[in-house]
Amino acid sequence: MRKKITVVGAGNVGANCAVRIADKELADVVLVDVVEGVPQGKALDLLQSGPVQGYDVNLVGANDYAPTADSDIAIITAGFPRKPGMSRDDLLLANYDVVKTATENVAKYSPNCIIIVVTNPLDVMTQTALWVSKFPKNRVVGMAGVLDSARFRTFIAQALDVSVENVTAVVMGGHGDTMVPLVRLCNVSGIPLTELMDQATIDAIVNRTANGGAEIVKYLKTGSAYYAPSAAAVEMAESILKDKKKVLPCAAYLEGEYGINGLYVGVPVKLGAAGIEKIYEVKLTDEESAKLHKSAAAVQELVDVLKAKM
Ligand code: APR
Repeated sequence: MRKKITVVGAGNVGANCAVRIADKELADVVLVDVVEGVPQGKALDLLQSGPVQGYDVNLVGANDYAPTADSDIAIITAGFPRKPGMSRDDLLLANYDVVKTATENVAKYSPNCIIIVVTNPLDVMTQTALWVSKFPKNRVVGMAGVLDSARFRTFIAQALDVSVENVTAVVMGGHGDTMVPLVRLCNVSGIPLTELMDQATIDAIVNRTANGGAEIVKYLKTGSAYYAPSAAAVEMAESILKDKKKVLPCAAYLEGEYGINGLYVGVPVKLGAAGIEKIYEVKLTDEESAKLHKSAAAVQELVDVLKAKM
């Protein structure tokens, strides 16, 4: 039997998730959005791409959640994108209501699914999905680190004129300006980055990575990135559906790991059929650890804002 993925939000990120899922023939897709006609139209358009692209995947659009029943995975992208000058954090209260409603419905119709959250501010929205779904923590994961490290890898590959496939990079922490690209753990086919680049070049790339989302918002003016975010979310979905057990940086609920408790923060995890199957606790230097805690504190601040409103 085919797998089934619900994508909540048929906007830029959601629709591109559907495209990538279909192109990979990963699962049938149900696109859900509040705007009447948009998920239906996009799903039908994508369905009609099947004969050309060569995929046998069913795609339907809906404004309610009944057709999503018994999904294996739900990718939540619904919400408002970041506008120029707006931080991810400004989105907090507006997107809280959206993610809450989406999670309630996803949990009701697909009580056994794994939820991948994409909506920003990412770490807090993932925490919202955990609270609302009441799922075990391994079944609620946030997409941030895969995207942030993809940006980091892209810039490194560009600067060294090597294949992106050879570049391994880890970005930890919250998905925000305080994210922590871990240069020490970065390598090109095993060669440490520090042996390939001078410190000034590394610093410039780290800075560009941390501002990678804002750079695109500045160009697009009316929205935020969606090609790389959808690619990242679908890589996570694929690792789960195929039980590939990829080790990827994702937002995971920490309960003591890295000395952080009761908070979603980006860390390396193993993603398999059970969702987050393992959280890797990498030994950090004092400086790295301080940066991670600073980033976690920024996430905690937003969680506190939400808790005060609830
Ligand atoms: N239920 C379902 N869909 C909703 C809801 C809701 N309650 N509220 C809004 N939406 C839909 C909108 O109608 C829109 O189609 O979510 C979609 C969001 O799409 P875009 O505006 O194109 O935004 P997008 O670029 O896809 O970003 C979505 O992902 O990367 C993050 O920061 C980004 O939080 C943002 C999210």
